[in-house]
Amino acid sequence: MGHPRWSRRLAGCLGALSLGAGCWAQMPAATAPPQVQACAVCHGAQGLALAPDAPHLAGQPSFYLSAQLKAYRSGARRHEVMGVIAKGLTDADIEVASGWYAAQRIRIEASP
Ligand code: HEC
Repeated sequence: MGHPRWSRRLAGCLGALSLGAGCWAQMPAATAPPQVQACAVCHGAQGLALAPDAPHLAGQPSFYLSAQLKAYRSGARRHEVMGVIAKGLTDADIEVASGWYAAQRIRIEASP
């Protein structure tokens, strides 16, 4: 742990953890668009979910994500939390958030 940059990051993580926020989601948040700041607490800034009942969004196709958000917004897909959240999103917010999560690269390792 001698590396100063790493130490700073670790200190930030420990601080974030003590507040109950997700450390790994906080680190890349600087580059995440403001439209996903409200999503990150559950889905992670890069779409790796932190809340146990929230799905991962990283790497999902943009059209799929925006279709789900529009369905929550219209009530066609029902969920207590996402219904409320989606009602506050404009079409432009949905495009930005969907595009951001779709652009995150994920790597799958085959199970042995
Ligand atoms: C309080 C936690 C929470 C927050 C904040 C939150 N979500 Fe969700 N989200 C969930 C949960 C839980 C589900 C699963 C809902 C269901 O079963 O339909 C979900 C589902 C979704 C889905 C559907 C995923 C799929 O695989 O079908 C999308 C897309 C989504 N959220 C996007 C967002 C976006 C964008 C934001 C921010 C504007 C956001 N969410 C904020 C908890 C959250």
